[in-house]
Amino acid sequence: MSKLWGGRFTKQTDQLVEEYTASIMFDKELAEEDIQGSLAHVAMLGKCGILPEEDVEKIREGLLKVQGLIRRGEIEFSVSDEDIHMNIEKTLIDEIGPVGGKLHTGRSRNDQVATDMHLYLRKRVVEFVGLLGKLQEALLTQAKANLDTIVPGYTHLQRAQPILFAHHLMAYVSMFERDIERLQDSYKRINVLPLGAGALAGTTFAIDRHFVAQQLNFDRVYENSLDAVSDRDFIIEFLSNAAMVMMHLSRFCEELVLWSSTEFHFVELDDAFCTGSSIMPQKKNPDVAELVRGKTGRVYGNLFGLLTVLKSLPLAYNKDMQEDKEGMFDTIRTMQGALQLFAPMVETMKVNKERMRQAVNQDFSNATDIADFLVNKGLPFRQAHEVIGKTVLYCIQNNKYLLDLSLDEFKQFSDLFDDRIYEVLQPQQVVNARNVYGGTATVQVEAAITRAEQALEQTVAWVDEYSKKCK
Ligand code: ARG
Repeated sequence: MSKLWGGRFTKQTDQLVEEYTASIMFDKELAEEDIQGSLAHVAMLGKCGILPEEDVEKIREGLLKVQGLIRRGEIEFSVSDEDIHMNIEKTLIDEIGPVGGKLHTGRSRNDQVATDMHLYLRKRVVEFVGLLGKLQEALLTQAKANLDTIVPGYTHLQRAQPILFAHHLMAYVSMFERDIERLQDSYKRINVLPLGAGALAGTTFAIDRHFVAQQLNFDRVYENSLDAVSDRDFIIEFLSNAAMVMMHLSRFCEELVLWSSTEFHFVELDDAFCTGSSIMPQKKNPDVAELVRGKTGRVYGNLFGLLTVLKSLPLAYNKDMQEDKEGMFDTIRTMQGALQLFAPMVETMKVNKERMRQAVNQDFSNATDIADFLVNKGLPFRQAHEVIGKTVLYCIQNNKYLLDLSLDEFKQFSDLFDDRIYEVLQPQQVVNARNVYGGTATVQVEAAITRAEQALEQTVAWVDEYSKKCK
């Protein structure tokens, strides 16, 4: 069969060239959006009097027929038709005859493919906000169940100060909140219509771009036709936002791997989210956490891949841009998989409260609090720091923890110590003493949970509203 663009050519395309330049193998993913865009385009051609209504109706019916064929898997896409746009147009012409050839009036594949990508990505962005909300929900459930769980907080992976485990989990809720905000904000840059830019310069037909934008629920149309067909910023921005989400997940993964080790034994991941070893019968491996951590690499790779494709690319459309798709699809699949697994994995995770409490009782993470105790008695903080440093050293040399010391032993280091020190050193007291906005005191964490639940309600409402808008 001849090419849709075959007129100017005297020779058949080399077989290898055909295969090398085709994108149908992956851009068939855009079939729904391609038809959606075409339906809006042809409606506009009718409304502007560029095509007679009877042609518009034939093309519309034809497009719906093609849509049905694709949905039922009844189309064999062909590499010789290169991409999804020409495969659909070809099928349309096969179905309704030469009138199908009128669809491409006033349009180019350059503004067409860009439109498809905008339509496609805005749906995914809304879905990702929903998935992140689900993960926050799982984290909040665990946080509420662990308002009484005290765990060492770390800096440099050394025990630093005791915190509520709920507080630790809420840090991730905050990170994912920023991810949600970034994705929501990106929607306004994705939701811009390129169609009508033609190949690069606009079109000679008296089209109405704003009508198409309205049909497709785009808030705006691109201001500049060259920019419209050659802008891939919105995809790079998405890949960057995805990289940030995966980076956050990978940090959590790393903690889950550590926490589920025998050495920590802070949590136990549910059997359904772990796998075994083919040789060592005792093993239960946190594969999901490891793999999400590992897959973060490919998501970064996709971001750098596309940044590099676009680097130094002259205006306007260049075939290089076809390389925007596979990385984007891959990032979407990778992140969908990660988020879908993560929420239930967090929700079903067993928290070993006893083990965490033991850890807190057997460390020096309450040292700052006795320093603060001395400060409250009037000692300058720097001197208090020195006194406690010496006290801790004494403990280490004598195989004791601070709570094991007698008052006489304390008094060797400063006569400002009194009985109340034993109360000040209790982990619960240490935690609740940090009663500052954003701190780990129980009341503060409870308030943080309430705020996060309110934010989550708004996120759910946003997803509800935008999943209708982006259809
Ligand atoms: N398959 C192409 C892409 O994804 C569609 C646009 C092709 N335009 C062109 N002039 N060859 O970028």
